[in-house]
Amino acid sequence: MISIDLSGRSALVTGSTRGIGREIAATLAGCGARVAVTGRDQARADEAAASIGNSARAFAADIADSSAVARLVEDVASAFGAIDILVNNAGITRDNLMLRIKDDDWDAVLDANLKGAFAAMRAATRSMMKRRWGRIINITSVVGMTGNKGQANYAASKAGLIGLTKSAAKELASRNILCNAIAPGFIDTDMTADLSAEARQTLSAQIPLERLGTPADIAGLTAFLASEYAGYITGQVFVVDGGMVM
Ligand code: NAI
Repeated sequence: MISIDLSGRSALVTGSTRGIGREIAATLAGCGARVAVTGRDQARADEAAASIGNSARAFAADIADSSAVARLVEDVASAFGAIDILVNNAGITRDNLMLRIKDDDWDAVLDANLKGAFAAMRAATRSMMKRRWGRIINITSVVGMTGNKGQANYAASKAGLIGLTKSAAKELASRNILCNAIAPGFIDTDMTADLSAEARQTLSAQIPLERLGTPADIAGLTAFLASEYAGYITGQVFVVDGGMVM
């Protein structure tokens, strides 16, 4: 029988006050890890950590701010003793046609989705290197592989995250730090809540499994990649999209 045991491990999940990140945090905690729940807002992080229970702790930081990320990593490491598992999940969209994307929209998306993940990896890998164990899981998107009309900034940030994942995997493998990415398709969360019923139907028709995904579809794979079962997997991008992109 296979069961995922993360007891004794500490995890930091960025953007875990809701949606996919919250489900990942709850799943890792359910597997026995101590989990740092994070978001920009302390009260929301407190609420999420309390509802997850299982020794989850709340921390607030804006992931787009590199020095705040460095402080966050320090605070979590000193609360838990270490960070063994880093899940870069925080992300935003500021969709528009390319000609209408303002510099601010470009910077906000790249700063949160790509620079934030890089800052967290740079800060968290120091202690992983010393302990010669670490797992980094970056939540990218199928859009980072296929591109998408109206999402040039978002697609560029998610494609960048794939390049960052593979580079980190090569740099860190000798220290037993594994770095992989998960590329979700359409997942039912607040991020996709604006889709009309009609748009959902059209989308579902393009998905072989004929439904949008759920946060649990992403969280299970994240727990697996954080576990000992994934010890020979690094630098990979796992598409979880109901078969939409093959
Ligand atoms: P969501 O909007 O429901 O949640 C995003 C989380 O990130 C929230 O907790 C939010 O507070 C946090 N966050 C955003 N900016 C932040 C910042 N500057 N600092 C700290 N926290 C910040 O989104 P969802 O759907 O749960 O998405 C999670 C990840 O999955 C994102 O990276 C997203 O790009 C990715 N994804 C989502 C898909 C979907 O269909 N929902 C599809 C493909 C990828």
